[in-house]
Amino acid sequence: MRMSVIGCGYLGAVHAAAMASIGHDVVGIDVDERKIAALASGAAPFFEPRLPELLAEGLGSGRLRFSSQMADAEGAQVHFVAVGTPQVAGGHAADLRFVEAAVDGLRPHLRPGDVVAGKSTVPVGTAARLAARVIDTGATLVWNPEFLREGWAVHDTLAPDRLVVGAEQDADGGRAVAVLRDAYAQAIDAGTPFLVTDLATAELVKGAANAFLATKISFINAMAEIAEASGADVALLADALGYDTRIGRRYLGAGIGFGGGCLPKDIRSFAARADELGRGEAVGFLREVDAINLRRRERAVRLVVDALGGLVFGRRIAVLGAAFKPFSDDIRDSPALDVAVRLRGLGADVVVTDPAAIDNASAAHPQLGYARDRDEALRDADAIVVVTEWDEYRRDLSPEHAGALVRGRVVVDGRSCLDAAAWRAAGWQYHGLGRR
Ligand code: UGA
Repeated sequence: MRMSVIGCGYLGAVHAAAMASIGHDVVGIDVDERKIAALASGAAPFFEPRLPELLAEGLGSGRLRFSSQMADAEGAQVHFVAVGTPQVAGGHAADLRFVEAAVDGLRPHLRPGDVVAGKSTVPVGTAARLAARVIDTGATLVWNPEFLREGWAVHDTLAPDRLVVGAEQDADGGRAVAVLRDAYAQAIDAGTPFLVTDLATAELVKGAANAFLATKISFINAMAEIAEASGADVALLADALGYDTRIGRRYLGAGIGFGGGCLPKDIRSFAARADELGRGEAVGFLREVDAINLRRRERAVRLVVDALGGLVFGRRIAVLGAAFKPFSDDIRDSPALDVAVRLRGLGADVVVTDPAAIDNASAAHPQLGYARDRDEALRDADAIVVVTEWDEYRRDLSPEHAGALVRGRVVVDGRSCLDAAAWRAAGWQYHGLGRR
């Protein structure tokens, strides 16, 4: 099937490459010429496992192309809209300018029967407005939210937990759904549930899913606060809760909380939209979810300060991690970097290391010290703080090895990812958020 993908960021670039890998003929389009040039030469503009291989394969086979010209979308049967919806400056709502510009730019190139499939995360009600904007072209707009996680984007695109398509309940909507069913035939044949909904429900599924995940993380982080006050251990608590199959252990990872380009902004825009709909009260808890999340960063800083005797000024602190989570070089709203910046603000001599995100982090926060090499960051540190649970720190760093490099054996585990007993046995003062 011929497809275009408008917007080649995390979502669009992976979607384009993944669709080409299952045999579709795909053109990825973006206004950013540098991004397009990189992608066209096979270079992924961000760190995403398996994406470079998929790009090479797609470009090599001729099934995948990249362009900065919207006219190159012409002739495609499905046009996926995968542009970003950041938070508006000075507010909590989603900025829809890029989605609107993408649909308006696409309009002159649409033919009767084409399907426009929105994938961007949008406030409920957006799809119906956009559908009205393309109707006179004879194309049909459907909403097909994306649930991929950074770091697992290729896997999640090719083998999603479910596919959701929202469409108007009329003949054109029905035809458009059938086209998407064909586009995703491989995943559907492999057993992926394919859910057909109205436009509003499809938009809501995405917002609700991210709101739920954020709530689950903040729930366990709220329990961490209680554990800290009562002498309990949140990691053991999460394990015990997780065995209840109604609860499940995933997303009960306590620590410095969620960040990234999605969960934080998505819960805020969800609440902002609920306010507009006169139902702000229904999701009032999301403000609490946000507040719990932000408190954890402060708590991590407090633990470091207390562990160093109340003052970090002039002390050397190795911050292990900058990305908002492992297997990503994304530093958008990264709790890890936030902790580093706050410590620096208190006068600490901060050295940040990360396997993938140093370039992004140093461009955004040039005031911090950086070391590409983990051991160089550890050398002579008075304390180390683990804020992104990369395997390099969680699994591969032994307390004995680290102990030989540092000046002071103080470790703050911001992700509940270290073996506390092993670190203590090696003579370290171990502090974990919500941990005994
Ligand atoms: C999230 C959702 O998981 C995806 O389903 C969704 O498609 C995506 O947002 C999006 O809207 O585009 P992502 O932002 O890649 O994906 O990140 P997650 O893996 O969900 O992690 C988010 C944050 O929560 C990270 O900072 C992570 O460290 C933190 N987290 C995650 C915890 O603090 N504890 C956990 O137990 C799990």
